[in-house]
Formats: sequence, structure tokens, C-alpha cells
Amino acid sequence: MKISVTGLGKAGLPLAAVIADAGIEVIGIDIDEKKVEVINKGINPITEETGLSQLIKKHGGNKLKATTRFQDAKDCNVHIVIVPLFIDKNKNPDFSLIKIAFENISKILKKDDLVVLETTVPVRTTEKLVKDILEKNSKLKAGNDFYLAYSPERIMTGYSISRFKQFPKLVGGIDAKSMEKAFEVYKKFTKPVKVRDSRTAELAKIAEGIYRDVNIALANELFKVAEHYSIDFWEMRDAAKHDYCNILEPGNVGGHCIPVYPWFLINELDVPLIKVARNLNDDMIDYYAKKVDEISGKRVGIIGLSYREGVKEKSYSRAVDFIRLLRKRGYKVYGMDPLYSREETEKEFGVKYLDNLNDMDVIILMNKESKYANQLKNIKNKVIDIKNVLGN
Ligand SMILES: NC(=O)c1ccc[n+]([C@@H]2O[C@H](COP(=O)([O-])OP(=O)(O)OC[C@H]3O[C@@H](n4cnc5c(N)ncnc54)[C@H](O)[C@@H]3O)[C@@H](O)[C@H]2O)c1
Repeated sequence: MKISVTGLGKAGLPLAAVIADAGIEVIGIDIDEKKVEVINKGINPITEETGLSQLIKKHGGNKLKATTRFQDAKDCNVHIVIVPLFIDKNKNPDFSLIKIAFENISKILKKDDLVVLETTVPVRTTEKLVKDILEKNSKLKAGNDFYLAYSPERIMTGYSISRFKQFPKLVGGIDAKSMEKAFEVYKKFTKPVKVRDSRTAELAKIAEGIYRDVNIALANELFKVAEHYSIDFWEMRDAAKHDYCNILEPGNVGGHCIPVYPWFLINELDVPLIKVARNLNDDMIDYYAKKVDEISGKRVGIIGLSYREGVKEKSYSRAVDFIRLLRKRGYKVYGMDPLYSREETEKEFGVKYLDNLNDMDVIILMNKESKYANQLKNIKNKVIDIKNVLGN
């Protein structure tokens, strides 16, 4: 068995490394030449991922060969694809990267190969869009000539390696044979669980994200209710907790997962609860801006610019929209994040680097940056602590 993994990002690279570590030869394909080059030198480009550096050092350029050419994977009999799927400005899924990836896979597809999509996608993407592209270009028939399955990625950046080993990996095929085939392959490097078909696996992954989004929206609403009655939200939350009541943490919802998936359903179906929750979470930055208005002064320092602490990722970070909103309201915004250098901060987020906390009129703690706790103690009256929550 030889496996190709297309998309060596925060999800794909740990997966490729775990497969290589199970003793299977892997061809990792990515359009990013620089990334390919460093991986083949045994250097890990995603340093925040625990345990990944050792695996890349051990397998990069050996068991795991990275390349930009799909042709280098023509001997592979399993092809896994995990490239991003973004939403456009109308919140509709943009399939362009997925299409390019599968068009390329279709050119090297052979009889009896297995193809698996791992990217989180709208329901029926595997059985329609992916199947059509693969069949059209290869002239092979899914289910007869090759196998096709969906297996959602359920990792969390920073904990991916352990998640691969411990977390159940859902596997659903476009037919029973594809599911069985995928189950046998995934058994070699993860803990697969069979689900009826690819569309069930697709919806299960979307549902996980929506579960968190809706529960965080509930927490956000209850937070405002508690504030109205002068009740300590956190004390109330602890008091309400038992086996059947687990209110998540209130705050922003960022990243390219949870704020994206609900739109796969909102734009297709009548799902009012999911829609209200999504908008409510997005609107939290307005609520925080009003809190800033309550403190006099125009200099605002934001600590934590990435979408979540410990992950160097700007996509769908609420800090980006928050900075824009504060500027519109006339504030001078400074920022810093332990994962970004001064130059990166100023270039990527368009803010002045936050050097001195004491110079600020307001400090916004966007992420759980606990290492600033001591410095913040002295200027407690200026600090607004927003937990950039992914749920708990
Ligand atoms: N990162 C996570 O925590 C996480 C968790 C669960 C699911 N996912 C899923 O994984 C997907 C990818 O996320 P990520 O965090 O790895 O993204 P990422 O941005 O870190 O990496 C994506 C990689 O794919 C490459 N790429 C893009 N188009 C390509 C193409 N056509 N051919 C080859 N390579 C291509 C990019 O160069 C990049 O290296 C997400 O869209 C989501 O569905 C991610």
C-alpha cells in the first residue's frame, strides 16, 4: 500500500506523518513549494503542533516524500484529499481548491484505487461533485472500478497527533464496498468507525461544529442575561452544571471551521435556530465594542490576534473584524500575539505593535493568553477579557 495525501496543512501534514509512522509509504502533495522543500529536509513547518517535529524529522524525505507534482503519486493506490474549503462573501462554499485537487487525482487514478475526502464539506459533496470529477476525467466508474469514501477530519490543531490515535475516525463510503475498503485502510493508522454512507459522515462532521456554535450562542445570550440581573455568569454556569446541562463558554467564535460549517445548511435549507446562533456569535464584536465605549480614551490594545491561542492562523479570526469595527468607531488600535513577530503583526493585521500595555486606555484580551496575567493585574480596571472560545 502506498498513500497520497493532498494538502499538507495543519490537518493534512499530521495525518501524513502519522501514516508514515505506521510504516506506510506516503506521498504528500501540496501546491506550496517552500513547504514541500522543508518537509523533505525533515523540518516541520507547523511548529505549534505537539509531536509533529519528531515525526517530520524521522520521516520527512524518507517514508513521507513531499512534492508539488501529482504525477509523483501515480503509484499510490489510496488517495486522501484534505485541502481547505472556504466560503465566499455571500457565505456560499467555494469549491475551487477541492476541484483542482480532484481533477489532478483523476489524472493518476487507476482501477481498484481508493479515494477519500477528509475536508469538511456540504452534504452529498462526495457522492456528487467529487464522484463526477473523478469519473469524468479518469473514465473509470466509482463503485465498480475504484472506491470512494468520506472520512471527516476531527483533529484540533495542537493536539492532532494524539487525536489521530485516540479519537474515533468516522468512515462512510458512497457504497458498502467503498466503506469496507476505507475502513480496512484507516485501521492501519487510526481508530475508524463505520457509518452508513458518505453523506451521514459529512453531516455528522457539520453537526459537531453546529452543536458548538449553537451552544456558544446560548452561552453568549445567557451571559448578557446574567449581566442584566447583576449575576456572576461563571458562578451561575457552575451552579447549573450537571450531567444533562453543560453550558459552553461565551465569547467569539473564530477559525475556519465552526463559523463556516453552519452556512453549508443555512444557505440551503430553512434552519432558523442555526442561523440565529451563527449571527448572534458573529455580532459579539458589537457587544464588546460597546464595552470599549464605556471606558474613556481612544487607544485600544488587543492581545491575541489569531483565531485561537496557540494556533498561528488568521483566517476567520474575529480580531480582524474587531479591529475594523473599532477603527470605524474612531479608536487607535494596537495589537500583539505571542505567535506573530512585530513585522508580521503590522503587515498581516494592519495594526501598530503593542509594546507597552500601560500606554493603552483599554486592553482587550481576545484569547486566553494567561502569560500576561501578571502584567494585567496592575491595570485591571482597563482590561476587557474576551475568551475567543472554541467551546469546552
Ligand atoms: N486545522 C484544523 O484544526 C482542522 C480540523 C478539522 C478539519 N479540518 C479540515 O481540514 C481542511 C484543511 O485545513 P487545514 O487547517 O489543514 O488548512 P491549511 O490552510 O493549514 O492547509 C491547507 C494546505 O492545502 C494546500 N493546498 C490548497 N489547495 C491545494 C491543492 N489544490 N492541491 C494541493 N494542495 C493544496 C495549501 O497549500 C496548504 O498547505 C479544512 O478546510 C477543514 O475542512 C481542519
